[in-house]
Amino acid sequence: MATKVLLIGATGETGRSIANGLLNAGGFEVYAFTRAASVHKPQLLDLEKKGVIIRQCDLTAPKEELAEALKGIDIVVSSVGPSDQHIQHNIATAAKVAGVKRFIPCGFITICAPGGIMWLRDEKEKVYNHIKQIKLPYTIIDIGWWYQIATPRLPSGKIDYAMTTSNDELIGDGRTPSSFTDLRDIGKYVAKIIVDPRTENKMVFAYNVVMSPAEIFDTVERLSGEKVERRYIPEETVHKRVAETRASSETYPFEPTKFTARFVAEYQLSWGIRGDNVPEYAKYLGYLDAKELYPDFKPILFEEYVQELLHGTATGVYTDRISRIY
Ligand SMILES: NC(=O)c1ccc[n+]([C@@H]2O[C@H](COP(=O)([O-])OP(=O)(O)OC[C@H]3O[C@@H](n4cnc5c(N)ncnc54)[C@H](OP(=O)(O)O)[C@@H]3O)[C@@H](O)[C@H]2O)c1
Repeated sequence: MATKVLLIGATGETGRSIANGLLNAGGFEVYAFTRAASVHKPQLLDLEKKGVIIRQCDLTAPKEELAEALKGIDIVVSSVGPSDQHIQHNIATAAKVAGVKRFIPCGFITICAPGGIMWLRDEKEKVYNHIKQIKLPYTIIDIGWWYQIATPRLPSGKIDYAMTTSNDELIGDGRTPSSFTDLRDIGKYVAKIIVDPRTENKMVFAYNVVMSPAEIFDTVERLSGEKVERRYIPEETVHKRVAETRASSETYPFEPTKFTARFVAEYQLSWGIRGDNVPEYAKYLGYLDAKELYPDFKPILFEEYVQELLHGTATGVYTDRISRIY
C-alpha cells in the first residue's frame, strides 16, 4: 500500500523538489496542504496535474480541525519559507493527535549548532523542541547550500536567465569548505530518508559535494572560459554585518528587508567563517550521513549543474517573485 505523505509548503522551491522526488520514486500517495489564498497558484495546479492531491486547510485552524484534515496521513513533510517556521507548531500538535507516524519539520538548511549563531536555525529548533516535547516521531533533514544560489554570475550575462543575485562575494579567502546540493536532489533524498527506519528520531545530513566557494567560482570559470568577478569580504565586515542586522531585526513584526539581511549575514558567519557546514561537524552534532546511508545514490555533481547552466537548460529559483538584484 502506498505511503500517504502530506506536504506543507509544496508550492515552494524545496516543496516542489520534494513533491517531484516522491512522485518519481513511486510508492507514495502525495497530498499538499494549501491555504485558500494559494489555490490558484500555477505551481499548485502543476503539482495537481502530476498527481498531487490537494487538501485546502489553514495552518492556523484549531488543532481538532487540522487533525481531521490529517486523517489517514502517514508522514508529514514541511518546507515552509524561512520566515514562517512558527506556523508549524499547530500542525505538529495536530499530527500527534491524528497519529501521524513521522513528522519532518522544515530543516533543509546548512549545518549550524543552535543557540545564537543563526536566527533561522534557532527558529527551526523551537519547532524541533516542540515536536520532542509532544513525543511525535520525527526526522530532521539538512541539505547544505543549494547549487542554484551558490553559482556566481558570468560577465557575458549568459547564465543570467537562471540567476537570483550576482553572487560575487567570497568570505575571507573563500577557501572555507562547505557542503552543496542541487535543489532537485532534495526530494530524491527525502523519498529515501522518510521511510527508512534508521532515520526515525534522528537528524540526517544529505549533501552532494563538499567544495569551497572559491572552488565553485573556479569551476564556473574553467567550464565557461570567462573570468568571474570576485569580491573578497573580510571577516570583520561579516561580523559588522551580523551585529548591524541583528540590531535592526530584534523587534517584530517580521520585516523581510531587515530579516533577510540578517539571514544572509548569519549564513556567511556560519559557513563562511566558522566552517560549520561540513559533514565532519554534522557528525559531531549527531547527524547521520546520507552518503553512508545510501551509498548507491548518484547526486547531480556541481560540474553537471554548471554545464546545464551554460547550455541554457537550467531552471532559476524564485523566478516567480523576485526581481533580480544584479
Ligand atoms: N539550503 C539552502 O540553500 C536553502 C535555500 C533556500 C531556502 N532554504 C530553506 O528551505 C525552506 C523552504 O524554503 P523555500 O525557499 O523552498 O520556500 P518558498 O519557496 O518560499 O516556499 C514557501 C512555502 O511555504 C508555504 N507557506 C508559507 N507560509 C504558509 C502558511 N502560513 N500557510 C501555509 N503555507 C505556507 C508557501 O505556500 P503558498 O504557496 O501558500 O505561499 C510555500 O509553499 C526554508 O525554511 C529555508 O530555510 C534553504
